[in-house]
Amino acid sequence: MYSGLIHAHSGFRWIVLVLLLITIINAFGKRNGAKPWTVQDQKLALYTFISTHIQLLFGLILYFISPKVQFAGAAMKDKILRFFTVEHSLLMLIAIALITIGYLKAKKAPEGKKAKTIFTYFLIALILIIIRIPWPFMGVGGNWF
Ligand code: HEM
Repeated sequence: MYSGLIHAHSGFRWIVLVLLLITIINAFGKRNGAKPWTVQDQKLALYTFISTHIQLLFGLILYFISPKVQFAGAAMKDKILRFFTVEHSLLMLIAIALITIGYLKAKKAPEGKKAKTIFTYFLIALILIIIRIPWPFMGVGGNWF
């Protein structure tokens, strides 16, 4: 189960990243309110929102079963344990919270402000996600897929 979840969580990052990127580019083109924000645009944002919540679910389960999550004081001195126990998990939680707030705010926002709201919140979330994904070159034991 552990190994299957890691593969799912690791591979699913690409779906999250691609959806986030497409949603941000789409919202960027409409952010000045000149072009209408359509039902399809809101649906695209919804699929992105859902993908991050699926990733959250995988991540939360991993948080309880991964040997890389430890709470002993000494764990904070270990680069890999600190990364997964605190840095990765906390930043991803903040990013997913921003996506949730942005999505809900955009739903309620007036027509001309929806794209800008999605653009701003999703872009900040994407930056946080990119800087704290365990990329292979970071030396914390992550893979590309
Ligand atoms: C958009 C959100 C997220 C992305 C893109 C993401 C991505 C990743 C990636 C690429 C790995 C490395 C997998 C590998 O070994 O190849 C990983 C590991 C991990 N993630 Fe996430 N993650 C996200 C959210 C979360 C959240 C919210 C939590 C927990 C609250 C979490 C907990 C973990 C843990 C504990 C591991 C280490 C698993 C292990 O190797 O034992 N992740 N994540």
